Amino acid sequence: MSQPARLVSAKILEQVLLQRGSLSTQISKHIADVDYDEQGLAKELCFGVCRYYPQLNTIALSLLSKPFEEKDLDLYAALLMGLYQIEHMSTPDHAAVHESVELCRQLDKEWATKLMNAVLRRYQRERDDILENLASQPSMAYNLPKWLVKRFKKWETEFEAIVEATNAHPPMCIRVNESHVSRETYKELLEEKDTVSRETAFSVSGLYLESALPVSMLPNFDKGDASVQDESAQLAASLLAPSAGERVLDACAAPGGKTGHLLELAPELDLTAVELEPWRLARIESNLERLGVSAELICGDASKPEEWWNKQAFDKILLDAPCSATGVIRRNPDIKINRKPDDISALVDIQASILDATWKTLKQGGYLLYATCSLMPEENEQQMASFLERTQDAQELPLNTLAPTLSVDFGKSVSHGMQIFPTLNGQDGFYYCLLQKQ
Ligand SMILES: C[S@@+](CC[C@H](N)C(=O)[O-])C[C@H]1O[C@@H](n2cnc3c(N)ncnc32)[C@H](O)[C@@H]1O
Repeated sequence: MSQPARLVSAKILEQVLLQRGSLSTQISKHIADVDYDEQGLAKELCFGVCRYYPQLNTIALSLLSKPFEEKDLDLYAALLMGLYQIEHMSTPDHAAVHESVELCRQLDKEWATKLMNAVLRRYQRERDDILENLASQPSMAYNLPKWLVKRFKKWETEFEAIVEATNAHPPMCIRVNESHVSRETYKELLEEKDTVSRETAFSVSGLYLESALPVSMLPNFDKGDASVQDESAQLAASLLAPSAGERVLDACAAPGGKTGHLLELAPELDLTAVELEPWRLARIESNLERLGVSAELICGDASKPEEWWNKQAFDKILLDAPCSATGVIRRNPDIKINRKPDDISALVDIQASILDATWKTLKQGGYLLYATCSLMPEENEQQMASFLERTQDAQELPLNTLAPTLSVDFGKSVSHGMQIFPTLNGQDGFYYCLLQKQ
């Protein structure tokens, strides 16, 4: 039996606050509990609360005499949802309060109804003073956790634009499968469905849609004519420029966006895709099936090739490493809640071990394209600097060595590789560096 959208949203957000998995995982697990017509509301509440969490959390804590205990984080989620509805949705204030009080009952916490009512009514009455008092806090000014503000400020010139793009709704970007249909023709097919799009500036096969659509509405989506993929991510396969017969490793492959793109560019590629998580490997499989292409799929740890590698060296490697995802916070706003500064050094170690291990599987003269969707220099240019220092036979090459016609002014050249910043209506934050084994 279906459940109210707000109740399911509070439970999803409780799981996120308890750090029991990402927002997208929790949504895909629980969204079917909500009637189809109400699923949009549930997603808006979940994404909205995460997107505005730094501000909503600061406001909520200022209204409470003591924070909620861990066992009552469902109530805290309900309070954040109430504040979100007052601040960012067209729900009338009295309805937002009423629904939040009702939610306490649905959560079987009748004892909290008076508290919820009192806290939200006080916010309604004293909103302007409360916001003025809190205005100087970084979480309020930038809607980001303090540690991220500090990190992003290191990008002095780009700081304001990073914050603006990070807090915005991301644009919907698709990659046209040009082995099936040209970008121009696909743009016309979209127009026939009253969907306006514009060409991506750097990727040669991308289109930004003026407004987001469910994938089922994209012309011939089920036949593999288009895939949802950000513009920065579309550059990976183009930069690696695969050609028929080459032996290529996609080292951290799920959900397979770049695996599919590599095969669209060169269907005769000898491609091996390795992914650690079995359930994520299944997503590569369904993506490739939709595109009508195939690769050798391996569930394995890229940092332990001795467990899966057949000793035939690769011509090219794409290492799209697990990272802090700080360049794509607008698509995964729960990062504002769950990512902690200590995570970065742990990720740097994992990336380094995958780099060292996969390097051994690359043939002499072969290329490795290192990529992350991070804005942290430790995971990017500094990671490359350390790798180049400890790896005698590694050399950095200009990023478009393999794709000389591709313009590479999409990012900022840093000490090693290229840092791409998120832009308001454009690409996500990303990083690329091309290496060759001497
Ligand atoms: C940034 S995502 C890759 C996105 C993918 N390349 C695409 O374009 O769709 C990183 C992936 O690496 C996987 N991963 C993390 N550690 C790994 C490891 N040691 N070996 C293989 N895969 C790993 C994660 O589960 C995740 O699916």
